[in-house]
Amino acid sequence: MGMREYLKTNAQIVEDRLNLLLPESVVKPDVIHRAMRYSCLGGGKRLRAILAMEACAAVGGKRESALDFACAIEMIHAYTLIHDDLPAMDDDDYRRGKLANHKVFGEGIAILAGDALLTFAFEVLSGLENIESSRVLRLIQEVSVACGSQGLIGGQVVDLESEGQEIDQLTLEYIHRHKTGKLFSAALRGGAIIGGADEAQLSDLALYGENLGLAFQITDDILDVSGDIAKLGKATGADLRKGKSTSVSLLGLEGAKEQAKKCVEQCKRYAERLPSSDHRLVELAEYVLNRDF
Ligand code: IPE
Ligand code: IPE
Ligand code: MG
Ligand code: MG
Ligand code: MG
Repeated sequence: MGMREYLKTNAQIVEDRLNLLLPESVVKPDVIHRAMRYSCLGGGKRLRAILAMEACAAVGGKRESALDFACAIEMIHAYTLIHDDLPAMDDDDYRRGKLANHKVFGEGIAILAGDALLTFAFEVLSGLENIESSRVLRLIQEVSVACGSQGLIGGQVVDLESEGQEIDQLTLEYIHRHKTGKLFSAALRGGAIIGGADEAQLSDLALYGENLGLAFQITDDILDVSGDIAKLGKATGADLRKGKSTSVSLLGLEGAKEQAKKCVEQCKRYAERLPSSDHRLVELAEYVLNRDF
């Protein structure tokens, strides 16, 4: 299967499962369930979910066994996007080709829909079936640390505080590695824990994830400058408008591309060391470098 078809097929598998896992939109109070479903379904590349399943395969596990875990990661990702678009944060009106959650449901419900998705993700994680309970516990710990104040939230905090400021490359890398890299690493490590990985494999996957997250955020910054709005499904020029320092503003377009390329080379090295060759982690790293949405 070619890469494009592979990504589409797997995104659909994740979408179908999310559709089943999320509370139905008629469940009371229906507005919150409609808001949760609005932002969690019907779009997104599902890259983090796909990484979780591939990491599981890369250590010899079955992809399907990581599907519900992968869906929980996508719920968390959707929550971060809802909150990221709020007026108090990036103040963006569009996401995934449609109006941002708060533009449809209002800010109060958007905040609560994000909270509910985060909480529901942990309900799903704690209820994972057919996985040893010690592994489930480890997963919950990995994900909570990755999303907390020293992980993803930490990255968002420094991102927010850096608006309109001149920041150095080290600070920017902190932002990228935390706001984006940590969830990538948690998705990969979680998938691999389900697949029965050992500690050495988990640390290779953490490094793969950090580098991939960095490369992914650099390409996100590049696409904010040179991307196609129709393909991206979100506004371009948003970083400049908000006075954000980005890889492009700090390194220039060519410098940013060069850094992303270096990160992806690192990813490939770590991916090639994994025990099973039945995985797409090398191609996924190349995809991140060349993506146009
Ligand atoms: C957007 O992530 C937020 C960033 C971390 C840059 P994605 O580009 O993966 O968003 P979707 O899920 O495909 O919409
Ligand atoms: C978002 O980064 C990171 C998280 C939501 C954790 P950005 O603010 O750069 O993402 P976009 O450009 O809005 O998708
Ligand atoms: Mg942001
Ligand atoms: Mg944003
Ligand atoms: Mg961005």
